[in-house]
Amino acid sequence: MTLSVDEVLERRRSIRAFRPDPVPRELVEEILRVAARAPSGTNIQPWKLHVVAGEARAELEREVLAHRETDPHDVEAEFGRTAKRKEPYTSRMRKLGKEMYTLLGIPKGDQEANWRQWGRNFQFFGAPVGLILTIDKDLDAMSYLDTGMFVFAIMLAAKARGLDTCAQGAWNNYWSVTRRVLQVPDDRYIVCGLSLGWADEDDPVNTLVSEREPLESFATFHGF
Ligand SMILES: Cc1cc2nc3c(=O)[nH]c(=O)nc-3n(C[C@H](O)[C@H](O)[C@H](O)COP(=O)(O)O)c2cc1C
Repeated sequence: MTLSVDEVLERRRSIRAFRPDPVPRELVEEILRVAARAPSGTNIQPWKLHVVAGEARAELEREVLAHRETDPHDVEAEFGRTAKRKEPYTSRMRKLGKEMYTLLGIPKGDQEANWRQWGRNFQFFGAPVGLILTIDKDLDAMSYLDTGMFVFAIMLAAKARGLDTCAQGAWNNYWSVTRRVLQVPDDRYIVCGLSLGWADEDDPVNTLVSEREPLESFATFHGF
């Protein structure tokens, strides 16, 4: 079944529980090749990826999960997490969190369960393939926009082939371990991760459909 672009956009959702079935390397390559058609300012294509599966993925998971038990310095992101918490963003974030934690059956204030659930990020939510995106530290905000386009192109190309994804800013925490395990050079930041695989349709967390603000709230039309 071939989906239209609109159908892919409507159907894609962040998936936070995956089936373990492996994704063939050729399929991952196909997705990445087409996603690399994403635009970038002056075509600099600033993105680089580490694609992990099998033992490499398991090692990364093991190392990060062990490291986070040690009260590490790199629980803070290495870059760019300086935005003030303010409205309307905090309300939207809380709404999403409340809906997700209700589906997960985690009661408000259960610190231990929250900690464990946050840790699921570093297991790529059970997805067989994990992607870690890095960027040259010398580049500026416009290039991060470019990487966002690339990541979204991966998400759409995956969905068009029946695969699911979850973008994960969480991977810019515990960056020193990811840097060591994947040998990311010191002149690059770890921007985010992406889980890739097939959704576990039976897991309630995957029924979450996040809301969107109405058009009038974000678009100002001029001259029509
Ligand atoms: C840049 C970026 C970082 C994200 N980081 C995480 C993350 O670390 N963990 C997670 O569970 N979801 C993460 N998400 C998923 C968002 O929560 C999700 O996209 C948003 O709630 C909208 O829901 P939808 O993707 O299902 O439409 C991230 C999404 C983006 C675009």
